[in-house]
Formats: sequence, C-alpha cells, structure tokens
Amino acid sequence: MPSALSTALRCQLLALILVFVIGRSGLLPPLDALALAAMQALCAAFLSLMAKADRWWVALHLAFFPGVVLAIQLGLPARVYGMCFLLLLTIYWTTFRTRVPLFLSNRTTVHRFAARFSAQHNLQVLDVGSGTGSFVLQLADLRPDWQITGCEVAPGPFLLSRWRARPQTNAHLLRQDFWQHSFAAYDIVYAFLSPAPMSALWRKARQEMRPGTLLISNSFVVPDLKPEMIIAVGDQRQTQLFCYRIPGRGR
Ligand SMILES: C[S@@+](CC[C@H](N)C(=O)[O-])C[C@H]1O[C@@H](n2cnc3c(N)ncnc32)[C@H](O)[C@@H]1O
Repeated sequence: MPSALSTALRCQLLALILVFVIGRSGLLPPLDALALAAMQALCAAFLSLMAKADRWWVALHLAFFPGVVLAIQLGLPARVYGMCFLLLLTIYWTTFRTRVPLFLSNRTTVHRFAARFSAQHNLQVLDVGSGTGSFVLQLADLRPDWQITGCEVAPGPFLLSRWRARPQTNAHLLRQDFWQHSFAAYDIVYAFLSPAPMSALWRKARQEMRPGTLLISNSFVVPDLKPEMIIAVGDQRQTQLFCYRIPGRGR
C-alpha cells in the first residue's frame, strides 16, 4: 500500500503535468504564475480526494504550490528558507517516520491528571514523547513528591524542555527514543501521540510494566481495547484521558 507521503507526491506531480499540458494546449488564455499555481493546487487537491487521502492533505495541496509562488515573489534571500528549514527540522525531526507531530498537553489536562491521582504518593510517571516539557514540568510543579520523566527525540523541543526544567529536581528530561526506554520502573506511562503507534505502545506497556500500573493516553485509544476508565478533562477541546490497566501476567 502506498504511503500517505508518496500518494501526496504523486498528486502533486500529476497535477503539475496536467497544468503543464493544459497550459501548452492553447485552450486557456495566458495566465500568470499565481493563477497557474492555483490551478495546480486545485488539481492536486482533487486527485488527493480521489485517492482517499486524509482530508488534511487537501488543505496542504491547496496551500503548497501557491505558497511556493508567493514565496518566490517575495524575493527573500535563500538563507531565510535555509534557517526556516533547520528550525522546522529541529522541531519535527522524524515526524515523517513516527507519525507523531508536536502539540502540547494543556494546563487543565495536567491539573485534572494530578487531581485524579491526588491520594497517591511517590509515583513514578513517564511521558513518552515529552515535547517542550509542558506535561512533565507542570506535573512536577504540582507534585513535588512524584518523579516525572520525559523522553523526547526531537532536539529542538528537548533542549527547550531541558532548559525550562533547570529549577525542578523531580523532572527528568531525556533525549531518547521512548521505544528504547524501559517502562518497567513506572507506575503511570502517559502518552499524547497519535493513532499510529497506539497498538505497538500497548504491546510494549504490557510487556514491560508491572501488573496494576497504568498506561494513560490523551485523546487516542488503543484499538480494540476497552479502557478501564476515561477521565473527562472538561476543557474546551473536550480532552479525554483513556486509562488502561496492565493486567496480571498470563492474562
Ligand atoms: C503530541 S507531542 C506531546 C508532547 C507532550 N507529551 C505533551 O503532552 O505536551 C508528541 C511528541 O512525541 C515526540 N515523539 C514521537 N515519537 C517519539 C519517540 N519514538 N521517542 C520520543 N519522542 C517521540 C514528538 O517529537 C513530539 O514532540
């Protein structure tokens, strides 16, 4: 099955060829670059719909080529693009492989999380994919008796989180792929990722975590598994935390 990225690339190329052929055919009056780019964008978006790609690709196709033409017309020096590219690279790093972009847990979610486990002391919590440290740092602040660890692969968010964590002794930020990090020591593993890794994440949690401990996923469910409980955060985006208890061995 073709990947979403190769489908998008094919839509872009096919749309370029179509617009080139139509432009050369003499069927249309002479058009400027932006009008041609808009035509290419419409064709690419249509092809993307036909290919049944996720809906958000349509928005990307509509914006991509007109964006390129407008950027060229701005005449910015090449180094501006180089710098933007490097900045985005440090933030998104291997998102094309992990299929987990950067977005952050909000304050209400962290407070609700802390409140739900308020009676528990000395917990070890792991945030898999800790981003800029929003979850880790706020939770470490709320619960000085808990040890909160975060693993993050992308260097930009990781460095920022490390810098923000300077005053907190119970927040531990690691630049590490969480698939390479053992979950065995944790009472709760918290994930705010995407639908893509959820089945594999549950398999890893089951293999490594102690029976009775919890995997808690913000917004994304483990396919075909009923959560033991769902915490409704009560924020504007109606966040739900899906809580999965690790069963006893052999179950
Ligand atoms: C949606 S953000 C969540 C950030 C943070 N947990 C929060 O709740 O605010 C997901 C993060 O996971 C990181 N990530 C994705 N796959 C990863 C992996 N295999 N190891 C470590 N970090 C990963 C991404 O770089 C991204 O920063």
